[in-house]
Amino acid sequence: MKGKFIAFEGCEGAGKSTQIKLLAAYLDKSDVPYVVTREPGGSVIAEKIRNLVLDGKNKNMSDECEALLYAAAREQHLSDIIIPALNAGKTVICDRYVHSSLAYQGYARGLGLEYVRAINFRVMLDYMPDLTLFLDIAPDDAFSRKHGADKDDRMEQQGLEFHRRVYEGYKLCLKSDKNFCAVDCRGNKEQTHANIIRLLKDKGIIN
Ligand code: TYD
Repeated sequence: MKGKFIAFEGCEGAGKSTQIKLLAAYLDKSDVPYVVTREPGGSVIAEKIRNLVLDGKNKNMSDECEALLYAAAREQHLSDIIIPALNAGKTVICDRYVHSSLAYQGYARGLGLEYVRAINFRVMLDYMPDLTLFLDIAPDDAFSRKHGADKDDRMEQQGLEFHRRVYEGYKLCLKSDKNFCAVDCRGNKEQTHANIIRLLKDKGIIN
């Protein structure tokens, strides 16, 4: 039996961690076995790639190197964590996945969605999430919730203009991918959680 695969996406500070915790608590109560993991990272080697790609001192990293490192981390994470968990019938909840690469590297960095799809398609094979939930909060609001950017993080150093492009990139992806859905986040965290549960039920991912 194959488990279900759920990914969370959104701009920095959109509240992914909070919503992932609430979903995990919900699955606990429903006795659904699950694994929570994250990208880039999630396994020993993939976490080493994470440190490299997010290190604020690596200012000269090329955009293409960055895109390939995210894809490399994804490959390792899939084989170490995601595929074994799905094969064991567990639900996988992943904090960020390929839509981050499409929005950040493909759109905001300008490498092109086709190029980023191509390098990731080879890595992911059939392992696309059953549903990717986009926490729809504009970066202007998300950053202020987060009380500003982390100065040691290469991606957060990019500034608001970059993060506005990331948001546009996500919006573009929403138009073409039926398994990528925006979550209404205008209410409080409990209301957003209820919206997520409703979406997961509607799509037949949870009972
Ligand atoms: P993280 O600290 O996990 O960010 P957040 O808490 O906002 O999720 O750092 C991950 C960073 O890496 C984040 O800025 C998004 C970026 N990223 C990409 O640019 N491409 C990718 O494929 C992935 C998975 C993440």
